[in-house]
Amino acid sequence: SQTVTRGDDGVVEVAGIPVTRLAEEFGTPAYVLDEDDFRTRARAWRTAFGPDADVFYAGKAFLSRAVVRWLDEEGLNLDVCSGGELATALSAGMPAERIAFHGNNKSVEEIRRAVEADVGRIVLDSFQEIVRVAHTAQSLGKRQKVQIRITVGVEAHTHEFIATAHEDQKFGIPLAGGQAAEAVRRALQLDGLELIGIHSHIGSQIFDMSGFEVAAHRVVGLLRDIRDEHGVELPEIDLGGGLGIAYTSADDPREPHEIAKALTEIVTRECEAARLRTPRISVEPGRAIVGPTAFTLYEVGTVKPLDGLRTYVSVDGGMSDNIRTALYDAQYSVALVSRASDAEPMLARVVGKHCESGDIVVKDAFLPADLAPGDLVAVPATGAYCRSMASNYNHVLRPPVVAVRDGEARVIVRRETEDDLLRLDVG
Ligand code: LLP
Repeated sequence: SQTVTRGDDGVVEVAGIPVTRLAEEFGTPAYVLDEDDFRTRARAWRTAFGPDADVFYAGKAFLSRAVVRWLDEEGLNLDVCSGGELATALSAGMPAERIAFHGNNKSVEEIRRAVEADVGRIVLDSFQEIVRVAHTAQSLGKRQKVQIRITVGVEAHTHEFIATAHEDQKFGIPLAGGQAAEAVRRALQLDGLELIGIHSHIGSQIFDMSGFEVAAHRVVGLLRDIRDEHGVELPEIDLGGGLGIAYTSADDPREPHEIAKALTEIVTRECEAARLRTPRISVEPGRAIVGPTAFTLYEVGTVKPLDGLRTYVSVDGGMSDNIRTALYDAQYSVALVSRASDAEPMLARVVGKHCESGDIVVKDAFLPADLAPGDLVAVPATGAYCRSMASNYNHVLRPPVVAVRDGEARVIVRRETEDDLLRLDVG
């Protein structure tokens, strides 16, 4: 996050608060989220895309009521992908017309709640869902705005588990073989639906704009075919999320204004060539907004040097608060933040407290050789997909999210308690 500084005593401060104080007050592990940084990033996206486009924050990256209110205040919309995210958004007062509802297998109940709430759009992901949403809307006497999510056949250069536009995967309706065109035909026929656009999301943690360009080209191609076949010009396209962030210094992320410029230019150019009115563009960044705004604060518990190999540093969390290293081989960095040290760097691996050898937080890291139990370490860029993918593995309690701003810290998601765990166990 941006307001991190190191004091003369070597103690790191965030938004003017020493991490040692945060650890004392809120315990460890804890996610520490810089509210100003979040708002600045949200605003940068909003400004970059301007009034003729929409930015939907992808709630799956991290969602809480405070975050929903910040987004609302900064003029962003919200993408939700489950009944739980929808409930969180609505309970925090996000206007329903600014919510997009996603998912490849929304339940009938989830669809009903979304339609009843009057969400701004439901993104249809299958032929069955086209019918389900149409019926639900009709039975409620409504006409639901929808987009159809298509897969454009782009290989995004990212980890296989988070790439979503190649053909052999579960999301969307393939453009190939005329399936997307058929989906449009069906959606246009159903009274319960108002088809407002086409959606494409090619994957996550992407740095190279070329995948988006190919996707935009193919989506506009479909809009042209729709115009030619039905005489209808759909007013919107959504190009999804997926912009990469810097987890380590090796990553070189694009800025929102570069992305906005590139996407707007390509869509405008392609539409001119196809003699289409340029549709309203929307995007759905999650990670790029929240990822860099938080770090995880851990306390070191044990330090175990293995001769000729490396030193294993165990912290008081692990794969339950950050599954990304184990799941995607994600790279993180780590730093000693509770004091200064002149000691030589040692090759370390930061591991958690779980009963599993794959429980690694940072695979290869250099930490000062005098690292000792009781030291605090921080792992930056854990704002996205860490708390939201956290688990209770080994009945470890999920950490709180502490928001900091102008010298003040407040809990926005509290730490789980053993009572929380036992409350679910009714046997
Ligand atoms: N829109 C749609 C339709 C999506 O499926 C996603 C992410 C996003 C937007 C936001 O993508 P972002 O800008 O945050 O990359 N758990 C994985 C990421 C899975 C993302 C799934 N969909 C991770 O930890 O990297």
